[in-house]
Order: sequence, then structure tokens, then C-alpha cells
Amino acid sequence: MDTKLVVADFEDWRETVAEAVVLLKAGEIVGLPTETVYGLAADAFNAEAVAKVFEVKERPSFDPLIVHVGVRAQVETLAQIPEDLKELVRDMMEEFWPGPLTFVLPKHSEVPDLVTSGLSTVAVRMSAHEVMRAVAKELGPIAAPSANRFGKISPTSAAAVMEELGGKIPLVIDGGACRDGLESTIIAPEMTEKGPVLRLLRPGPISKEELRKFAKVIKPKRTKSDHIEAPGQVESHYAPTTPLVLIEKGEQFEAEPGKKYGLLSYKGEGATSLIEATDWAATEILTPGKGKLSEGAVRLFYCLRKLDAAGVDLIVAEPISETGIGVAMMDRLRRAAAAH
Ligand code: TXA
Ligand code: MG
Repeated sequence: MDTKLVVADFEDWRETVAEAVVLLKAGEIVGLPTETVYGLAADAFNAEAVAKVFEVKERPSFDPLIVHVGVRAQVETLAQIPEDLKELVRDMMEEFWPGPLTFVLPKHSEVPDLVTSGLSTVAVRMSAHEVMRAVAKELGPIAAPSANRFGKISPTSAAAVMEELGGKIPLVIDGGACRDGLESTIIAPEMTEKGPVLRLLRPGPISKEELRKFAKVIKPKRTKSDHIEAPGQVESHYAPTTPLVLIEKGEQFEAEPGKKYGLLSYKGEGATSLIEATDWAATEILTPGKGKLSEGAVRLFYCLRKLDAAGVDLIVAEPISETGIGVAMMDRLRRAAAAH
């Protein structure tokens, strides 16, 4: 199959959206931009189309998909929000949507079980990217996981989607580089005797500090490896093909002779920098600009892709300060390190 790559620029933006909608209505799957990472989209109510997503991604069927809405009213077709959580959920959607916050909510019976991997809940978000929103507004809810092969690095550009899935899907819409560069924060709001809480299933661009303004934030339940209760918690997610080690604070790195190493450095200098530790075969700096965490988040998957392509034996990642989006960055790096 030839994969068509269409740039959604100002002039043919509407036309591009229409092209995607036609394909999605016909049960095809399409690569679409979001503000976090690119998604592999299917009509959420078309189980056959959703099955194609799993097949093309080589994703195990126990890992459910996120459903994207174009307008708030579509949430009602997907989820049944418990009465006692309605106000909290509404307030949070008001604050964070459109944007990188995904809610796990009790599912409406109409949602195909394949989308939710048979769970009684569905994950819902409204993307801040206008193309994704416009397509969902026109088509209806869109099931879209990240547009990478299972367990690989999420794509933050259309070029990366082509690298991952080129030849396997009919269309990729290029909506530019992703604004956030890391997958959405996932929460499951729950009611307890002491009031509502937010179970944080995946850290992301919306930080714990921001969530705390609405309710207490609690950890995901412990999961056994054979039972995905809080999926996305699959350890081996987000991994380059090349093995990666994450040097946690205070740990040392010693190069072995004859091996080729790639360095993922935060700033390329400073107290925790490993830049002088050996003769690196490849180096990527996360924050070549102002050294801000948000800059590093945007570049994280891009830099990992470059290091993965550099032909080194091992990628060595420096630790990142675990505040704000740094929590999500370290989460992705720990998962990448756990994959090998
Ligand atoms: O930013 C994002 O969220 C991107 C863009 C494309 O929207 N999507 C994304 O999808 O990261 P994906 O499939 O790579 O990760 C979605 C995660 C899954 O690993 C899944 O475990 C979790 O969301 N998830 C989906 N439905 C769930 C549910 N009902 N309960 C718990 N977790 C769920
Ligand atoms: Mg993913």
C-alpha cells in the first residue's frame, strides 16, 4: 500500500480534513496529528476499523485505546459519568480541554469492547490540535492510540509516523511537530468516603500539581503482570530498539572498551551531566535552548529516535529533575530502560 502524506497547511486544511473523514467513514485508518503525539485513528464505533488499528500496530488486544472527541457532547455517547463525579469531571474538562488530559470513565454499552479491551471503562480526551478536533467533530468519536508499532517510540512528527507505519496505512496528515511531545496525562476519577480522588494512571503534560487543584491525586493500583488493570502501565512501552540505561541520581556510568555509546543529555553540561564521561559516538541534547523542561519534553522522543538510528550499542540517559512534566519524562525513560 502507498501511504499518502498530506500537509494540513492553511489553504487546504478543510480539504485535508474532508479527505481523512472520507477514509475513516469507509472503515480505513489514518495517521492524524495531536498536540501530544501523532495518533492512528479509526471510527470508534466501527469495530472492524478498530481491529485494523490493533493489527497495524501489532498491539495486543488487552491494551485499550483512547477515544478522541471533537465536541463535548460526544462524551455522552461514550461514557456514563456517575452523578457524584459529574461536577468534578465537568470542571476539569472546562479547565483542561481541549488539551492533553484523558479521563477514564464508566463506558457506554454502545462502545465496542475491542476499543476498551473488554474493560467496563473508556478513556476519553479532546485534543488541542485543530485537525484532530475537526475530524472528530465531523466523523464522531475517534479511537486513536499513538501511531507507532507496539512498544516503540511514539511519533512526534509526520515523518516519524511514516517511519513507523509507512506502507501500512493509506493516509497520514502532517499537522506539524507536536506541541507537547509526550502522551496525555491519564486519570480515573473515583468517589471515596472522603470525597472524590483522581487516580493517576499515566503522568503526562498536565502535572500532578495542576490536577491537585481539583482533587486528591492517588497512585494507580498495583497490577500483576498478567492482568492489566491500569493499562498503559505495560512496562516495555515507549522503547527504542537499542538498549537504554537510565542513570538515576547519584549513579555512576562506566564505559566498557570497544563499545559504542550514545548519550541523551539534558543540557550537555552541569552537575549531573555525563558529557565528559566517555567519548560518545552520538550525543543528543534535550534542551539546547533555554534548558526548560517543556523544551526537553517536546524533544524527548525525537532525540530517542535519532539515537536509536545512530547505530550505538547502548543509549545512556541522564536523569531529569522530577518536577512538572519531568515526572512524565522520567516515567517514559524508566519504561524504555525496563524494555530490555
Ligand atoms: O496523548 C495521547 O494520549 C495519545 C494521542 C494519540 O492522543 N494517545 C496515546 O494512546 O498515548 P496509547 O494507546 O498509546 O496509550 C493509551 C493508553 C493505553 O496504554 C491504555 O492502557 C490507556 O491509555 N487506556 C485506554 N483505555 C483505558 C481504560 N479504560 N482504563 C485504563 N487505561 C486505559
Ligand atoms: Mg502508545
